[in-house]
Amino acid sequence: MTTPAERVAELREQIAFHSERYFIEDSPVIPDADYDQLVKELLVLEAAHPELVVESSPSLRVGAPTSTAFSPVNHGQPMLSLDNVFDEAELREWSERLVKSLGRDDVKFSIEPKIDGLALSILYVDGEYSVAATRGDGRVGEDVTANVATMASVPQRLAGVTTTGRLEVRGEVYIDKAAFDQLNASLAKAGERLFANPRNTAAGSLRQKDPVATARRPLSFLAYQLVVLEGHDELASITGHDQALEALDRFGFSVAPTVQHVQGAAAMVEASGWFEAHRHDLPYEIDGVVIKATRLADRDLLGSTSRAPRWAIARKLPPEERTTTLLAIEVSIGRTGRATPYAVLEPVVVAGSTVSMATLHNQDQVRAKDVRPGDLVIVRKAGDVIPEVVAHVPSPGVIRAPEWQFPQVCPECHGALERTGEESDTYCTNPACPAQTREQIVHFASRSAMDIEGLGEQRVVQLLTSGLIRDVADLYALSIDSMQELEGLGQLSATALVEAIALSRAQPLSRVLIGLGIRHVGPVAARSIAATFSTMPELLDASSDDLAAVDGVGAVIAASVVTFMEDPENRTLLERLASSGLALREPEVTSTVAQTLVGKAIVVTGSLEGFSRDGAEAAIISRGGTSPGSVSKKTFCVVVGEAPGASKVTKAAELGIPVVSAEGFASLLETGEIS
Ligand code: IVH
Repeated sequence: MTTPAERVAELREQIAFHSERYFIEDSPVIPDADYDQLVKELLVLEAAHPELVVESSPSLRVGAPTSTAFSPVNHGQPMLSLDNVFDEAELREWSERLVKSLGRDDVKFSIEPKIDGLALSILYVDGEYSVAATRGDGRVGEDVTANVATMASVPQRLAGVTTTGRLEVRGEVYIDKAAFDQLNASLAKAGERLFANPRNTAAGSLRQKDPVATARRPLSFLAYQLVVLEGHDELASITGHDQALEALDRFGFSVAPTVQHVQGAAAMVEASGWFEAHRHDLPYEIDGVVIKATRLADRDLLGSTSRAPRWAIARKLPPEERTTTLLAIEVSIGRTGRATPYAVLEPVVVAGSTVSMATLHNQDQVRAKDVRPGDLVIVRKAGDVIPEVVAHVPSPGVIRAPEWQFPQVCPECHGALERTGEESDTYCTNPACPAQTREQIVHFASRSAMDIEGLGEQRVVQLLTSGLIRDVADLYALSIDSMQELEGLGQLSATALVEAIALSRAQPLSRVLIGLGIRHVGPVAARSIAATFSTMPELLDASSDDLAAVDGVGAVIAASVVTFMEDPENRTLLERLASSGLALREPEVTSTVAQTLVGKAIVVTGSLEGFSRDGAEAAIISRGGTSPGSVSKKTFCVVVGEAPGASKVTKAAELGIPVVSAEGFASLLETGEIS
């Protein structure tokens, strides 16, 4: 008979083995469900025998039951982006504008590293770790609570906080350079594929479906912002960013030790130069320096646009550029048929990762850059993500190849390539082009769409060439038996693939919309549309006016959706997807704030104490309401602040819409009722 201690040891070993296969090597040998079963059995045993729990147990690192998708989380306050400057002169100009609007030149600035990771917001309720969310679109992020719970640098309880209230700690999740190198070294030793760079590895690690996998990655968190949402009166005495960072440090967070607080623009520029000079001495990769007004009162005066605060700026450091040889120019065909030229390069390390291909965007760009096979070229990682060829380096005396010509036929189907009118892009005009079909299916299965694990480009090509599928709807008819003939696909992988496809049936409507690749419909529009119409039948009923009225959807997107939905072939595809059992519905958003204003349209006019314009709007939206710009019969109430717009107040009186004073706004937010 196996003793509980023996079984626990056995389970830990098996879990470690399988999570390595699954999450690090991307080649699982057992289906997800079996893996989950092992974790569950371990949890049950440990609960019954607490003496067997050890610190390294995967169970200790699991914050919540594993889920296949991340639920949406409304941020208590929007997570804004930063505006950029690219050199010292622009930085001086920014500070001059700031000094001018504040009317003082003794402005205090804080200068921080801009860590190249991903932003995270962590909600603490009464000092207890509660919800962690990625930035998402700034208003709604992804719920990564269970994953972040496994990170040692994120306290479960705020040290020394005894008062009640709700606050969000924001900062950057990253992998430091040494840990990244170590991770890759161990992969190299095992003969495994390496990770490309710390940022993407951190992002991928944070967004694992299983917290145990996140726990195995060396993620760190550095806090740079404290947002008090409610209560915690003692924190009201904080008047500057320096004090906020001290508080975060006291709570148990890491704060960048290199942060400097200085007075005056000249000192600020000098401090920002320090980071440029010491970029490579820092333990993590940075892509810039963030400069913030230190005093919170100054920040309030300066306010924010809907995109970024006016009180902060990112000084981007020059992206790293390298020279290498351009071996060839080739053309790839995308899911819309667009033919994109790209450079095949002698591999070169740029900004920390090896680059062997780089986009050349389109025909005009190739011409403009005058790059030809055999040239020495400058490669840059633009925006630090997509490598591009910047230019060729003239080599006097060397005879160059003739100018490169854009091909006239599609490299995949040999159909005609066409470039029409004003467009700079060239397209393959053959609707049956196998490259387009392939890319459409790959896109449908991709992480940002239906997220079908194990269905990458290679597998799609195999399924297409074997005739098992012709389009995305065919995926749902695949069986383990039908795939038996496929080379390199064993019983286990076939089972895993069929299960992954089956799981994708439950994906929310927004992901299906992304996956369909409707022109102009990106993730943001897809989520707004899905949140508004909830189900596919409702969406099919929507007119282009209905669609254009959705937040973030204009006439162009609306027309494109309607055109797509009216196309008979697309209709048939949607019907086949529905009869394949896809859910085609959008679940309700879970929120960290009480949803007191669901379905209520609240118009704000004039300024409200304690809120920026965007802040008041965001407070309404995060509680489930909407905040349109004009008063109509559908308006629930009009909130009137200082210096209101006369027309809105008159219109409200005309239509008999209730008016709420600035004082009544807080209770409206809290209760959803007019007091
Ligand atoms: S402040 C409203 N501080 O940069 C304040 N951001 O481009 C917004 N980032 O999404 C953020 N280091 O992911 C701030 N010290 C720092 C930062 C930082 C990195 C990232 C963050 C943000 C992005 C904005």
